Amino acid sequence: MSKHWTEIAVETSAEAADVVTQLLVGIGCAGTVIAHASGVPAGGVVVKGYLRESVKVPACLDVLRERLQTAVEWGVVPSGFRVTCQRIPEEDWVEGWKAQFQPLEIGERLLIQPTWVELPSGCRRVVVWIDPGMAFGTGQHATTQGCLEFLERIIRGGETVLDVGTGSGILAIAAAKLGAERVMALDIDPLCLEVARENVARNQVSDEVFLLQGSFADALRVRADVVVANLSTADVLDMLPQVPRVLKPSGTFIASGVPSSRRWEVEAAWQEAGFVMQGVIEREGWVTFAAHLR
Ligand SMILES: C[S@@+](CC[C@H](N)C(=O)[O-])C[C@H]1O[C@@H](n2cnc3c(N)ncnc32)[C@H](O)[C@@H]1O
Repeated sequence: MSKHWTEIAVETSAEAADVVTQLLVGIGCAGTVIAHASGVPAGGVVVKGYLRESVKVPACLDVLRERLQTAVEWGVVPSGFRVTCQRIPEEDWVEGWKAQFQPLEIGERLLIQPTWVELPSGCRRVVVWIDPGMAFGTGQHATTQGCLEFLERIIRGGETVLDVGTGSGILAIAAAKLGAERVMALDIDPLCLEVARENVARNQVSDEVFLLQGSFADALRVRADVVVANLSTADVLDMLPQVPRVLKPSGTFIASGVPSSRRWEVEAAWQEAGFVMQGVIEREGWVTFAAHLR
């Protein structure tokens, strides 16, 4: 029998799309997409989130409406949003976003390639084959791109890398294919790990990438040249004081998932934790940091 999901659609302005995405993730949506649907007023979008069948939908909708109302009061979402929901078969939304996921060149050397699109002949890039399934990590999001760009600049060959919140496995696979000797990739969500395992296998880096269900607290004995974490701001700030324990003295900490509005607060916290900024990529309202220990 095919799996079903509950699709929650929020009609809002394009500027508010990231905030609404965060609210949908906050009520437990396993995946989100931003669609430019017909019938929506100019400048508007529909942000869709997907809840697993086991989730109690009415309670989630109540929480979502309440948080949207709070976001309106804070002025970060315009009033007049519209929330609808429907039950859909898994294939429908997987096929829907597949159409939007196209090959993407990142930096000087990487190419993120959907598994169902043929590789152009003569391609000389390092190819990361991805079928993200229900997991985050297609490479289309500014936070993933920021992390990939820093990995490309930093990995020279032979490194030990820790990827916290691997999602589809995209960063771990890129690190291995760029030359890292070994990569530990963690995610708290077992479904993401299933997806990541398939992607690791299809990229033939199963010997280099070790996948584990867990969070940063489970990796405190690792000694890494690179720690990469594309998580929420709260998760990044939570792990920060322990990162120097895990990082080798010459190592680099790459983190994303921080909205531009919190850039300075996060930079200050990093300095306090003993880091010196190596680089910052700010794109589409999201910030990615790379820093080494003082
Ligand atoms: C924004 S996605 C990033 C996916 C991928 N690394 C990328 O850059 O596209 C965050 C992932 O982290 C996982 N996650 C969230 N909190 C976590 C935590 N505290 N420890 C480990 N994984 C976590 C989520 O399940 C999700 O797969």
